[in-house]
This record gives sequence, C-alpha cells and structure tokens, in this order.
Amino acid sequence: MCGIVGYIGDKTAKEVIIKGLKRLEYRGYDSAGISTITSDGINTTKTKGKVSKLESAIQKDDHQGGVGIGHTRWATHGAPSDKNAHPHSDASGKFTLVHNGIIENYTVLKQLLADNQIHCETDTDTEVLVQFIGYLYEREKLSFADTVRLALTEVVGAYGIVVLCADEPDTIIAARLGSPLLLGIGENEYFVASDSSPIIEYTRNIVFLDEGEMAIIQPDLYKVINIKENLIVPKDVEEIKYNLEEIEKGGYDHFMLKEINEQAVTIAEAIRGRVNAENNQVMLGGIYDWVQQILDANHIIITACGTSWHASLIGSYILEELLQVPVKVEYASEFRYRETAVNGDTVVICVSQSGETADTLAAIKKAKEKGALTLGIVNAVGSSIARETHCGVYIHAGPEIGVASTKAFTAQVTIFNLIGLLLSEKKGVDAAVLNPIITDLIRLPDLITRVLHDGNSIIPLTEDFMNVGNFLYLGRGYQFPVALEGALKLKEISYIHAEGYPAAEMKHGPIALIDEDMPVVFIVTEKGYDKIVSNIQEVKARGGKIIIITSETNKELENFSDHIIQVPKVNHCLQPILTTIPLQLLAYHMAVLKGCDVDMPRNLAKSVTVE
Ligand code: G6P
Repeated sequence: MCGIVGYIGDKTAKEVIIKGLKRLEYRGYDSAGISTITSDGINTTKTKGKVSKLESAIQKDDHQGGVGIGHTRWATHGAPSDKNAHPHSDASGKFTLVHNGIIENYTVLKQLLADNQIHCETDTDTEVLVQFIGYLYEREKLSFADTVRLALTEVVGAYGIVVLCADEPDTIIAARLGSPLLLGIGENEYFVASDSSPIIEYTRNIVFLDEGEMAIIQPDLYKVINIKENLIVPKDVEEIKYNLEEIEKGGYDHFMLKEINEQAVTIAEAIRGRVNAENNQVMLGGIYDWVQQILDANHIIITACGTSWHASLIGSYILEELLQVPVKVEYASEFRYRETAVNGDTVVICVSQSGETADTLAAIKKAKEKGALTLGIVNAVGSSIARETHCGVYIHAGPEIGVASTKAFTAQVTIFNLIGLLLSEKKGVDAAVLNPIITDLIRLPDLITRVLHDGNSIIPLTEDFMNVGNFLYLGRGYQFPVALEGALKLKEISYIHAEGYPAAEMKHGPIALIDEDMPVVFIVTEKGYDKIVSNIQEVKARGGKIIIITSETNKELENFSDHIIQVPKVNHCLQPILTTIPLQLLAYHMAVLKGCDVDMPRNLAKSVTVE
C-alpha cells in the first residue's frame, strides 16, 4: 500500500526517484508525486494516475539536485486526485512529506490545528501530519529532527514516512511504525524505500528500520534513533540477495505471466537443499530447533490474508491429515480482534508473500503476547513478519511483482508439504505414507513444466466466456481451496464476478444461479471423484456450461464437459499445485482478452500495509 522512495547523494534525485517509484508501483497506482529540495527551497510535482503520468508532468529542467522524496499512492483517506496526491506540505511550505499508512487520530490533530488557524486543504490524514509537524516547529523552535520526533510521539496509527525541511536541505528524515521502510547504504549516498527494489541497482547494502525507529540521513552519515526514548539504535547492515533481472519483465508482456511461467523454477528452489532423495528426509533449518515444541502443541492455527489464506487452507488439510492434530485457519484480520483461546500450547503459523501485511503482522504480535510459538512462511527475506516470528521457512519464490499472487501460492503449498513431512517424520508417521509425497515433490518441477507447456490451450475457453458476468468454481477436499483461489484470480484481474465453493455446498445456494449463461469450473481429482461427477450432472441438468480441470483421464468426463484441461496426477497433498496453474492462466488470458491492466488491477495493491 503506497510506495515511498527517498534519495540523498550525488545523483540527480529525480531520476532515482522516478525509476524507484516505477518499481514500487505494484503497491498502489492511484496517484504519484515527487518533492526535491535545494537551498532555493522545495519543488513539488504530483498528479492523479500512474508514475508515467508524473514523469510526463515533470519539465526537463525541473527538479534538479540530489535530495528528494517520491510516492505512489493507494488511496485510503481522500479520493485519488491531484490534490490528494503525496507529497503533502504544511502551511508554511517548509515541510514536505510522503506517507504510507493511516494516521488514526487525525481528527483530533486536525481540530488542534484548526484551533490554531491552520486549515487543511486536502482530504488526507497525511496532510494533517505534515501540518502538525509545521505547527510544532513554529511553536517549539526545535530542530527538524526533534520536531518530527515530537510529532510522532503524538501520532496514533501506522506510518512509514519520509520528510524534507526547507531549513535543512541536506537532511532526510524517515520513520516507521507499522509500514515498512528500509535504507540503502551507498558510497556517500543513501536511499530510503518501502522495499529494496528501488535500491538494488545502486547498492546491495540495506538497513531495515524497525518499529518505532526514525533515521536521520545526511549526505555523509546516518543515524537511527528510537522515537519514544530518543536513543541511538545500532543497526546491522544486511545484504540484498536477489538480482536485478528478477524484478524485470524479462521479455514477458506482464509480470503475472512471467511469474506463472517461473513456477517450475520456484518450486525447485523451494525444495532445493531441503529434500534428501537418497534417504527420503526433509530438512528445514529455520524450524529444526523448534520441531519438538511444535509437536508438543495442542493445536495449530494458521493465519493469513488473500491468496496466502487459500494456501493456508490447503496447509491445514496437509498438517491435520499427516500429524493428526487439530489445525484451524483464520483470516488474520479476524484473528487479531477475536477473543481466541490461544496460549503457550498453541502454534500459530503466519503465511505471507510480502511479509508486511498489516493484519498478519498484528496477528503474530497477538499470538506472541498470548504465549504461542509463532512460525512464519514468508517470501520476502528480512520482512517484518519474517523478523517478528520465532522461527520460519522462506518459500524462496523470488520477488513477486504482479499484484495477483501466483508463484507465491504454489511455493507456499510446497512449503506446507515440507513442514508436514518434517514434523511427521519426527513424530514417527509411517514412511509408506510420507515417501510417495517426497517422490512426487521431486518430480513436481518437471510436471509443472508440462502443465505450462500446454498453457495456451486455455485461450479458446476464455474467448467463449469473455462476455459472461459470473463464474462459479467448485471443488472438493484439497480442491476446494483451489476453487477459492481460481475464483479470486479471475475476479481480481478480469473483474468478472466469481465464487469458489465446496462442490457439495452448491446445493445450498449457488445452484439457484445456474442457467445456460453460467460457466462452472469443476476441479476434479481422484479423491471424491464419484461425488463430484454427480455435482457436474446437477449443473449440466440445469444448462450450466461445464469446464473441468482434472488429473483423471476418464472418458466420461470428456462427455460431460464443454472444456476439459488435464494435468498430471500426483499425491493428493501436492495436487493443488498442478490444478491451480490452469486457473491462473485462465484468469490471465481472460484479463488480457478483456483489455484489463493485468499487473495493476483497479483498486488493488500487492502489499496491504493498512487495515
Ligand atoms: C493482497 C495481494 C494478494 C495477497 C494478499 C496477502 O491482497 O493483492 O495477492 O495474497 O494481499 O498478502 P501477503 O503478502 O500477506 O501474502
């Protein structure tokens, strides 16, 4: 949600910032803006729309100098407009600020400002914050840094901010509470950004700002302080591990298509060094020391949002089946506010691609407060969730840029299998149960390549259904979460309304919607085959159009279906990985055919750092 870039150094700040904002655009694309600063003052350009629009709005000779901040917005308070675009300024024009998050006590602060004849011009909570900083600066006569610190001690809510002050044009201040920010440490130059993608081109050295920290950055030095206590915090410099090519499209039309096609490689990466094919053993260094504690737990809760929640649902089936312990899946946004029975005998697993989702992060904090052991399944290395959990497993899918998650989902399901295998081995589950999963895990990258090879066979199907208003996705058992994920992909990027349901539940409501205009996607595998065939008949009898994704070669299915896509058959714990891929491709090709913006679907953002 909202992308932030800041730069101070010898380069032209404008160039670093615009390039960086383009890399962060997956976080929001409602409006974009830039402020640069020299001894002559602050210069701001901002506009509704994407970063490319901002780029065209900037005059050739405008925004010179080596200090600046930029923002790409996902609107919370205030509609997307030129006026509400960041950066925002205070009434004196001395301060300019970009913000990711929500200032929850903005009405109180706004009233205080109004009482002092300072009136906000925009609809945003962010303007209130920068006005408040300007007000305190006048009132307290403190330095730039001390004023920002003081203001932040009064703020309730979540923020990642970067601020400039005309009185100190050689200083950038960045601060974080609840929204990610990191510093890039170059040679006499520094970067600030919401993630490392705007930085990697210039330096691999980064410093993560932790909750409640503020960085004061000048061309030749930086320091990080704790906002509450005003004490210097020593920080470790860490290294960015991925390569620049991984965050570029690499010849594909869209990041989403690239990421779908990467899945054979990402699954190979997820299992690399973790599965020993000679003795059929699984090793996960990030949780190894915690295995006994996990096995001793009374129950397991898995919490996540969006696509990661769908992977978690599959994960719950895997863990409950293999370990025979109760496993529950919760939306993080519900779990964090519900009265739960979590205690020291609970293991809470948090699943997140970005590692920054606000609700999931809050869910971990709550679980920790209640004494639970927390385990993260995360993609983004060094992200907040990865650092907040006691132990965890990285999915190693590499950067995922397309807003609709694809390769992270299949890697998350793979990791749940690995965790299930490791824990079951330690628990003494019969090798006859576990070895078939291991055998198929090792085959998986080749099988995914086969599925992807046939990927274009989905295109005629999208042509047949591009004008329908609704889709229904039905599956049983391990394929029910796949139905949910298939429906989510379609609605996210092609804006066709789609519902995922357990196939048998269709009779309790959705069947009323079925007529000759309703395509129904059935995901059919060996488990529950006869039952789902009956459900197919029920839809067919009512004129619905049948699309089948199956691991079965049964001729009978061909007779029932208007379209059939077959994927290789594997162990049922892994089968969702193969059945999901055609559904990702269905959504992708449908969106392309309908002329939708696949990588930046309307209203969505990849990293949801607000509630
Ligand atoms: C957003 C993204 C989804 C993602 C969800 C959870 O809604 O658009 O693709 O599944 O957030 O994100 P996380 O990073 O925690 O997996």
